[in-house]
Amino acid sequence: MTRCPMDSFDPFSPFYLSDPYLYYAQLPPLFYYEQLNLWVISKHEDVEAVLKDPYTFSAVNSLDPIASFSEAARRELGHHFPQPPTLVNADVDVHRRIRPIVQRAFSPRRVKTMERPIRSLAAELISDLPRTEPFDLVARLSYPVPAYVIFKLLGFPPQDFTMLKSWCGNRLDFLFGLSSDMQQLDIAKRMRLYWNYCIDFIRRKFSAPGDDLTTDLIAIRREEPDLLTELEIAALIFNLSLAGHETTTNLISNAVRRLLEHRQAWEALGADSDLVPGAVEETLRYDTSVISWRRVTTKPVSLHGQVIPVNSNILLLLAAAGRDPDKFRTPERFDIYRNDSGSHLAFGKGIHYCAGASLARLEAGIVLELLTKAFPDLQLEPDRRLDFISNLSLRGPKELWVRTSTADRT
Ligand code: HEM
Repeated sequence: MTRCPMDSFDPFSPFYLSDPYLYYAQLPPLFYYEQLNLWVISKHEDVEAVLKDPYTFSAVNSLDPIASFSEAARRELGHHFPQPPTLVNADVDVHRRIRPIVQRAFSPRRVKTMERPIRSLAAELISDLPRTEPFDLVARLSYPVPAYVIFKLLGFPPQDFTMLKSWCGNRLDFLFGLSSDMQQLDIAKRMRLYWNYCIDFIRRKFSAPGDDLTTDLIAIRREEPDLLTELEIAALIFNLSLAGHETTTNLISNAVRRLLEHRQAWEALGADSDLVPGAVEETLRYDTSVISWRRVTTKPVSLHGQVIPVNSNILLLLAAAGRDPDKFRTPERFDIYRNDSGSHLAFGKGIHYCAGASLARLEAGIVLELLTKAFPDLQLEPDRRLDFISNLSLRGPKELWVRTSTADRT
């Protein structure tokens, strides 16, 4: 068994989090990472093959907490967790039943209805951005847009948004981080409130339907009660609001950061919004927001001369796949004009392919289009170090400080 040859490989270290790509360039295609009991796969071809074979590589472990829950957190979560697996961590049979339902509810029509509200929200937030002082783009733009969009899509009432956002907190740390017992307890309390809210919300929606995704799911249950339980609808709502939130925040932040590091690309986008989709895809390839994802083997697998035993946890380095020189020419170059960036694996591949990919692309595209036009002279605030949440799978800066050139002169 190949162990990681780099003593310094530690996916929770600040060095790794600040630039995991430095490490990826030196990794073997497959190695066993003992500290987290994970087999790590980094080549594009292998990652893609794993994603396309859900029978050999099951997704049931993809939302398992990295660190086991403390006793106090477990008590706080009570009998509500784990929730019934519905999509991303469902086995093939459950997934086959539920994915088409979500596909129906998450229709292109539904995503299309979001375009106007996203545009007007982004325009409003952008017009409020200060021109004479530096500001944190995450707090002002890349966090609120996806939060608002997913809450609205699900039909949560606007007066609840602030409360819901406060419950979201750092819940991703709970699953993909190494939070302390105190932090776990705090997150568990919020998750329980959020979960109870989802259950109540579904019940209210049964009697007061709206034009939203939750209502669509309820309508499907009414038509065919055997297809979906009430608890599964609640789990879907709970998980969609998780999946559709920080992932897209990070995409927007990473895109703005990389474009500002490549000034000409930023200016080119401002002058020609047709370049926006290419810039979004290139960010997903070059600096994606879900850097790794997990699977578990259902039988022994031979790969690169090694045998991965049955029931082994696998870590797929989606971000490393995006920089694989065997797949992408000059992979270390951020280039919004390249024509091969679309074959990134940032949204996965196969049956679990991200259900929200078109929504994420729409949100990021609108923000980039409006921001590059409104702020052609935006720049990264010099001498600000970027900090990243300590997390195995999701990656984006906690804050992204930017300023206009006018702010420079004040
Ligand atoms: C940049 C933004 C996003 C990224 C990078 C991303 C990435 C991913 C990845 C890597 C997976 C797992 C694929 C697999 O296991 O094969 C996934 C699944 C999923 N994502 Fe996303 N996602 C993003 C945005 C969203 C949004 C906005 C939503 C919903 C509103 C969403 C909903 C889902 C769902 C429901 C699944 C599970 C699909 C299934 O198992 O059938 N995602 N996403």
